[in-house]
Amino acid sequence: METNTIDTKEITIGIVGLGLMGCSISTCLLIAGHPVIAVAPIPDDLVHAEKRIKAHLRKSKEEQLIVGELETYFNNCTITEDYTQLKDCYLVIECTLEHLNIKKTVYQKIEAVVADSCLLASNTSAIPITILQEQTEHPSRFFGLHWAEPSHVSRFLEIICGEQSDVLLGESLYELSHCWGKEPTLVRKDIRGFITNRLMYAMYREAIHLVENGYATVADVDRACRNNAGHWMTLVGVFRWMDLTGVPAYHTVMKDLFPTLTNTTEVPKLIDDIVKDGGKGVSNAKGFYNYTPEEAAAWEETFMEFSYEIRKLAAKYPEDVVQQRINAKNKKM
Ligand SMILES: NC(=O)c1ccc[n+]([C@@H]2O[C@H](COP(=O)([O-])OP(=O)(O)OC[C@H]3O[C@@H](n4cnc5c(N)ncnc54)[C@H](O)[C@@H]3O)[C@@H](O)[C@H]2O)c1
Repeated sequence: METNTIDTKEITIGIVGLGLMGCSISTCLLIAGHPVIAVAPIPDDLVHAEKRIKAHLRKSKEEQLIVGELETYFNNCTITEDYTQLKDCYLVIECTLEHLNIKKTVYQKIEAVVADSCLLASNTSAIPITILQEQTEHPSRFFGLHWAEPSHVSRFLEIICGEQSDVLLGESLYELSHCWGKEPTLVRKDIRGFITNRLMYAMYREAIHLVENGYATVADVDRACRNNAGHWMTLVGVFRWMDLTGVPAYHTVMKDLFPTLTNTTEVPKLIDDIVKDGGKGVSNAKGFYNYTPEEAAAWEETFMEFSYEIRKLAAKYPEDVVQQRINAKNKKM
């Protein structure tokens, strides 16, 4: 599938599971022009989904991610409890709770109605795709599609092949996802945690280790992180960063630093205590920091506002920014 020949209006996509992420993924696909069949596997979804998707679309219009009439986008979305409406989908994305049995039941319901050629994907954060695809009738058409919240704003997307996935179909999903405003990554071989979670969990583990051992407070670690990695990471990834700042220094430091990094395989006490005490983070105002309900709500709002802002900045610096600049310069000469 060549990106410039794709007509998204002709490609219907289904989403099953309309919680936090199902709603923002639906919004992303509507913005891209796809007809979307949004299936609510539990009645509670019907109470929230329409409101959430409409609110995302309105905000996206304000932020100029949408150019046309809002009504056109709303009308392209069918919210239903009826799985049979998925029958003409090119792709169905499962976005339900992180429980293998729930996901398995959902795949059975999807596969009972879609064509054999329909692609099937999961937004799982952590269950290996190889395990999920074993729960399906046609494992070769099954992939991980790992989104980041807010999915309609973030450029992040990992497309993950399981052991039995057809990599050529994975490549066609990779092409299609460029129409969704993504700079996607194709993970050709399944690995637990995929790419970003492996990188991030190495960092979470070390951050907790530093706090638990009294080197710095939670706020101090956060401040260092947001002003160091947070400064450059939207422009470059870790490899380009090492190139930009001089590879030999990293080589030298690795020798001395690696043996001192934590490699614990236990869940650290700091996070265990929070979870055992019912802490969820901003969503219930109780996490590594404590929040008043007002502060918690303001963090959610601020994160959403920041996501739109950083998207605008990132749009000025796409992956091929340097090539574009060189081409423009050469054209002038
Ligand atoms: N929240 C994130 O930032 C994030 C990021 C990447 C991936 N994910 C993954 O996306 C998936 C959904 O996460 P979320 O944050 O949208 O969760 P959520 O709690 O907001 O939504 C969960 C949804 O699961 C469905 N569900 C609940 N019980 C069900 C049942 N018994 N049978 C069928 N469906 C049921 C419902 O549609 C519900 O809205 C999970 O696999 C999660 O790991 C989440």
